[in-house]
Amino acid sequence: MSDAAPLLAAKGISKRFGGVQALKGVELSVAPGEVVALAGDNGAGKTTLIKIVSGVFQADAGELRYEGSAIRFANPQEARRAGIETIYQDLALADNLDVGANVFLGREPHRRVLGVPVIDRATMRAEARRSLDVLDIQLHRYDVPVRTLSGGQRQAVAIGRAIYWKARVLIMDEPTAALGVPEQRKVMALIRNLKAGGVGVIFISHNLGDIFEISDRIVVLHRGVNAGERATRATNPDEIVRLMVGG
Ligand SMILES: Nc1ncnc2c1ncn2[C@@H]1O[C@H](COP(=O)(O)OP(=O)(O)OP(=O)(O)O)[C@@H](O)[C@H]1O
Ligand SMILES: [Mg+2]
Repeated sequence: MSDAAPLLAAKGISKRFGGVQALKGVELSVAPGEVVALAGDNGAGKTTLIKIVSGVFQADAGELRYEGSAIRFANPQEARRAGIETIYQDLALADNLDVGANVFLGREPHRRVLGVPVIDRATMRAEARRSLDVLDIQLHRYDVPVRTLSGGQRQAVAIGRAIYWKARVLIMDEPTAALGVPEQRKVMALIRNLKAGGVGVIFISHNLGDIFEISDRIVVLHRGVNAGERATRATNPDEIVRLMVGG
């Protein structure tokens, strides 16, 4: 566990969807260079919480603090611009754009042709290739729509985007769920690299093996409330499962 002040903290977060109280007064924080695993059963509120942190949803109550100040993100672009990159469970890629365009989504480089700014697609593809090379993932082509890629390749594009933009906080909602075993290992190695570089990582997973391998701290949600929090080295899978089922 890191002793540094939190880089990002969510305090007292509540969110209701119609008749469903998805979150009630939830707390979550991550420090620089810390990997926090967010665990909980299906429907516990994990995705809802990280969507609030990353600007997809607005909380009904509670606040976000980033580098010590209260902050509000009106949309995911604002969070991304602030250095919070999120890899969503449902993969927020633009399906009909190519790999390069997805890495640069909303932040496209331009070049001038006869004085007129045009989007620089060649640069986007070359940079996308470089960021995926870091991940040791090579795609066949970088100029095809991402809807033609496999789930694992799409995940890699999203991770490549986070690396390219040097995220300060990286949030991953089940990043390895759609991946083959070699790619899962790569993602785990990548998380270790990001941690060493001072990035704060919030990692959602149902895989307790991955959680115990990679995290410094485990935060458990149960039916929309904090069910417990442990330093990873001071707990064990049985205890975490007990917390997950509300024991
Ligand atoms: N957009 C939405 N509209 C209505 N209800 C929602 C919406 N998103 C989530 N919910 C509800 O909020 C609760 C928490 O869902 P959430 O997706 O956050 O769970 P989760 O912990 O991520 O689960 P899983 O492990 O299955 O991904 C569930 O009861 C879910 O049905
Ligand atoms: Mg979820």
